Amino acid sequence: MIVAIMAPRSGKTSGLAIPAILSAPGPVLLTSNKAANDAFTATVDARAEVGTLWVLDPQQIAHHPREMWWDILADARDLAGAKRLAGHFVSASVDESSGSDFWSTAASNTLGALFLAAASHRRPITDVLAWLATPADRTPVDLLTDAGHDAVAAQLQGTVSGATETRDGIFETARQYASCLLDPDVAAWVTPNEDLPEFKPFAFATSRDTLYLLSKDGGGSASAIIAAAADAVMRAAVIVAERSGGRLDPPALCVLDEAANVCRISDLPDLYSHLGSRGVIPMTILQSYRQGQRCWGEAGMDALYSAATVKIIGSGIDDADFADRLSRQVGDHDVQTTSVSTSEGGKSTSVSMRTERILPPDAIRALPKGKVLLLATGIRVAMLNLKPWYKEPSAKVVGPASARATKAITERALAKTIGHDDFELSA
Ligand SMILES: Nc1ncnc2c1ncn2[C@@H]1O[C@H](COP(=O)(O)OP(=O)(O)OP(=O)(O)O)[C@@H](O)[C@H]1O
Ligand SMILES: [Mg+2]
Repeated sequence: MIVAIMAPRSGKTSGLAIPAILSAPGPVLLTSNKAANDAFTATVDARAEVGTLWVLDPQQIAHHPREMWWDILADARDLAGAKRLAGHFVSASVDESSGSDFWSTAASNTLGALFLAAASHRRPITDVLAWLATPADRTPVDLLTDAGHDAVAAQLQGTVSGATETRDGIFETARQYASCLLDPDVAAWVTPNEDLPEFKPFAFATSRDTLYLLSKDGGGSASAIIAAAADAVMRAAVIVAERSGGRLDPPALCVLDEAANVCRISDLPDLYSHLGSRGVIPMTILQSYRQGQRCWGEAGMDALYSAATVKIIGSGIDDADFADRLSRQVGDHDVQTTSVSTSEGGKSTSVSMRTERILPPDAIRALPKGKVLLLATGIRVAMLNLKPWYKEPSAKVVGPASARATKAITERALAKTIGHDDFELSA
């Protein structure tokens, strides 16, 4: 279980994500906010040779045609799953610190209730949007009662029949959290479609397929969908592993590149502890420790960090406390100092030992690009040179493949603008 913390442009994707994906023996999941000249383009060709490619690209980062759909409500058929799904929409929109105020909590509960109402009757996610737009609609309350979720129905009924200002405030907040689904081009990726193959997390766990989850960053982006899909895949993989003797073989690799931007799974710290020894390998890639704290809170980030059995810390650690903590973990060594003093009786030399930090905090902050500290369970801290994919012999193949895939993205983007211009001309 890996957590990597390295500054922007320091080789996270080229030195960690891409080499890990290229050597993965089993299924691979990648989250990212970039496509051209990044992990997606560098790995599509190689991964297409071993299994099916599933590209969930609701915001058209790679301008990939919609060739699949995933049932976002599949795990929301029980209350815990519905709440978790609502949580993904909240975390994608607000930081951990403001995710627990009254409006956020109420909106999250409402969203969870609506997801549960839709999922338990196999209604599409677009119904949830319709209910969000008309808070007075009784349908979700009736559906919940029908499905036996009386307590949730009563709670939703309470919100709906409460003071109008409060109700509207809660629904408005919930609408903001779910706003990415308002775009029909986004919602289509997670709505059942008979003409397209369905991505099934349980089948994926034992395949050699690759799931690319691409989204823009920030509120209003489709990152909640990305987080929900990654969460569903990892949970399914754990269940499959438990059913088949405890471990997935070959293991599933889940590279959460840009995790704090596009894959804010709120209970990732807890999930990390479930993934251990199940053959599901998460690699969470962050730009700084603080970025993780913003996303999962201080306690959450500490839990994630300590659950990681392999921690990789690269250049650009600007956080003085974190650098000092690392410096202490690297440890001390004895340094021999010789001092010479001159007195009337002549010269005298004395040798003394003193302990010094092996790597003081300022040296950690100044780690050059390409060098990383490795903190793995059971060994002393090591310093490694990263081997980015473009310096490996296989770059002869991967480089041109990445260039081809990048060119294809540009061509698809161009084809769209031409189509758009035609439309404008004829209109
Ligand atoms: N194909 C390549 N050939 C040579 N150098 C490259 C190549 N790809 C990337 N680099 C170098 O590696 C650096 C880091 O790239 P990479 O995308 O891996 O960093 P990153 O940490 O993932 O960045 P970001 O925070 O933007 O995601 C780039 O600035 C570039 O100088
Ligand atoms: Mg990157």
